[in-house]
Amino acid sequence: MELNTKEIDYQQQLRGRDFLTLADYSKDELIYLLELADYLKKQQKAGKLEQPLKGKTLGMIFEKSSTRTRVSFEVGIYQLGGTGLFLSTNDIQIGRGEPVADTAQVLSGYLDGIMIRTYSQSVVEELAAKASIPVINGLTDTYHPCQVLADLQTIRETKGSLRGVKLAYIGDGNNMAHSLMLGGATMGMEIHIAAPEGYQPDAGITETAKSIAKYHGGKVNITEEPEVAVQQADVIYTDVWASMGQENEQKIRERAFAGFQVNKGLYSLARKDAVFMHCLPAHRGEEVTAEIIDGKQSVIYQQSENRLHAQKALMAALMG
Ligand code: CP
Ligand code: NVA
Repeated sequence: MELNTKEIDYQQQLRGRDFLTLADYSKDELIYLLELADYLKKQQKAGKLEQPLKGKTLGMIFEKSSTRTRVSFEVGIYQLGGTGLFLSTNDIQIGRGEPVADTAQVLSGYLDGIMIRTYSQSVVEELAAKASIPVINGLTDTYHPCQVLADLQTIRETKGSLRGVKLAYIGDGNNMAHSLMLGGATMGMEIHIAAPEGYQPDAGITETAKSIAKYHGGKVNITEEPEVAVQQADVIYTDVWASMGQENEQKIRERAFAGFQVNKGLYSLARKDAVFMHCLPAHRGEEVTAEIIDGKQSVIYQQSENRLHAQKALMAALMG
């Protein structure tokens, strides 16, 4: 990779950093990562291998299931010249109660980076505080920043830019809603979240996102009315009603979210060229109809592929 001076500055600024929430990254840093992701995607499509992480190892701790995150990180580190280690908490000692702080310091002696998917954001924060290597949040109950980095890449590809793009998120005010608000606000987007009472995004995160949006000329708005959120939307986004760890709330949630399905009727209120996005896995017939998610406006597989490119950029920047 040939870098110009500005790119070298960003490399120095990002090297060794953690990626725990998008709130920790500036607009310029995110743009740098998105451009690097586009570049790595282009190189890969041209059959050119960029290997800035030769000899480096990423440990991937999973306390929850995963298809996209696991495979895209493992393939990504391999393509960058390094190796990925899949560490299920069913198999490593942290799952039997070994302290997070000890795990962090032990793993720092072997690895060059850690990706972790777990329940509590505080575990990821403690791991990052005690580890001497970069820690990447691969999803917690609170945030999913890697997904949103790839989503920003996808929105730029489909809409040409991010500033002023209106995204309507319909459904649970969960980890996806939080990271979309923070990432979108940083990029000057208009993020409208429609969630039923009792399932709205965290108030503190919403306030943070609103003040970030204000600074960057964007907007964050929360409503209980999906029909209001989708007016003039360029992007319609949804996620499952019951996230990992909430399986026993499935029935109550189906009732609470009954008016929040993304279907043809709701979609007709958005802009004609609105694209449909979903982080996946999806439940057809619940949060979205098959007609919409499998329709021509859906960019779900472009999103999932971009996980690979966006995370390669992230690893190259933090671990390079
Ligand atoms: N979107 C996403 O993170 O998918 P996985 O749960 O399969 O990793
Ligand atoms: N909100 C979902 C996202 C899955 C990628 C969950 O946490 O299960």
